Amino acid sequence: MKLGIQPENILDAIALQSRRELQPFLLGMLGMGVSQVLVTAIRLNVFDALQENPRTAAQLATAMNCDPHGMQVLLESLDGFGFLKRQGQQYQLTQDSARWLTKSGGLIHDFLRLGGDISQQLVLLEKDIRTGEVPNFHFNPQSATCFANYYEMLKSSGQQTASNVLKWAKLNPPPKRLLDVAGGPAEYSIAFCQKYPDLKADILDLPNAVEAGLPQIEQAGLSSRIQYIEGNLLDTDWGNNYDVVFLSNILHCLTAEQCEIALSKAFQALRVGGTVLINDLFHPGEQGKLSSPMSLFSLIYYVTCGGRIWPQPTILDWLTQLGFHQIRTGKYRLALLVSAEKLSAEC
Ligand SMILES: C[S@@+](CC[C@H](N)C(=O)[O-])C[C@H]1O[C@@H](n2cnc3c(N)ncnc32)[C@H](O)[C@@H]1O
Repeated sequence: MKLGIQPENILDAIALQSRRELQPFLLGMLGMGVSQVLVTAIRLNVFDALQENPRTAAQLATAMNCDPHGMQVLLESLDGFGFLKRQGQQYQLTQDSARWLTKSGGLIHDFLRLGGDISQQLVLLEKDIRTGEVPNFHFNPQSATCFANYYEMLKSSGQQTASNVLKWAKLNPPPKRLLDVAGGPAEYSIAFCQKYPDLKADILDLPNAVEAGLPQIEQAGLSSRIQYIEGNLLDTDWGNNYDVVFLSNILHCLTAEQCEIALSKAFQALRVGGTVLINDLFHPGEQGKLSSPMSLFSLIYYVTCGGRIWPQPTILDWLTQLGFHQIRTGKYRLALLVSAEKLSAEC
C-alpha cells in the first residue's frame, strides 16, 4: 500500500505527466493537510455532529462553540479531500465517513483521534534525530489528551486482535499463571482468562494503564483472577514460576538494549517448560523491504518512545542467545507472532 497522487480529471493527468515535480510536492503538502484536517475533524466531533442531519458551517460552529470562519474552511477542506459531501451550503457524511470516522468506527476512529497526540511528538522528529533524545510519551507526553486517547485506542485494538493471538499460541497444557508484561488496559489478559478457566494473570504496567484497565477487569467479572503489578518493567521485579510471559506490542516501545533486558527478565520469570509469547509488528529485516504503512508505524514508535519495529531476525537472535528453544513464528495481518520455550534453568 503506497500513498500516491491520483488525477481527478484530464487536465490533472496532463499536469502530472508533464510536471514530474508535482508528485513529490503534492505528496508532502497534501499528506500534511489531509492528516491534520482529518484528525482535527475527529477531535472536534464534526463527523458525529453530522450523523443525524446535513448542516451548514454556521450551524456546526454554533453547536460546537467554534469560530464560524475556521469551521467553514475546515468543512471545505473535508469536502475537497473527499471525507464530506457539500450540497449548497450544507455538508453531509459520505458512506465511509459515517461508518469509520464517527465514534462507532472503533479502532479507526480511536487511532485517528490519537493521531492528534502523535503529531505533537512528530513535530519533534528533526530534533529527535539531531540529538538522539526522544521524549517517551509514556513518561513525558507532549499533549494533555495523550493518555486518555492512548488507552482508549489500546482497548479497541486489543478487542480486535486478542482472540487471534490466543488461537495462534496453541498453549497446551492450559496455562495456570500468566505474566502480561505491559498489558495496558487488560484486553489480552481478559481474553486469556476467558479462554483458560484456571488461569490467573498478573499485568505489569504503568499507573495510567492500571487506571484504564481496572474498570475493564471488574466489568468482565475477573477481579479475583487478574491483578496489576504497578511499575516500570525495566526496574520492577517480574516474579517467577510463570507458565507464560506475554510481551504484546512492547518491544517496539523499547531500545535494543531494553529489549534484551526485557527478554532476559522474561526468561528468569518463566518456570522450566514455560513459554514466552511475543506479539508485535512485523519487520522483515535486511532481506525484505518495509511496506509504506509499516514504515509509518515504525516512525510513530520512534517519535513516541524512541523505539521502532524490531526486525524478525533480530528478535529471533535475542531469543536464541538467551537460551530459548523451539522458536516458532507466525504472521497475522501486520503482526509478527513468536513463541519460544524455556527448556532449562540455565540461560
Ligand atoms: C503499545 S501498548 C501495548 C499494550 C498491550 N500489551 C497491547 O498489546 O495492546 C504498550 C504498553 O506498555 C506500557 N509501557 C510502556 N513502557 C513501559 C515501561 N517502561 N514499564 C511498564 N510498562 C510500560 C504502556 O503503559 C502500554 O500499556
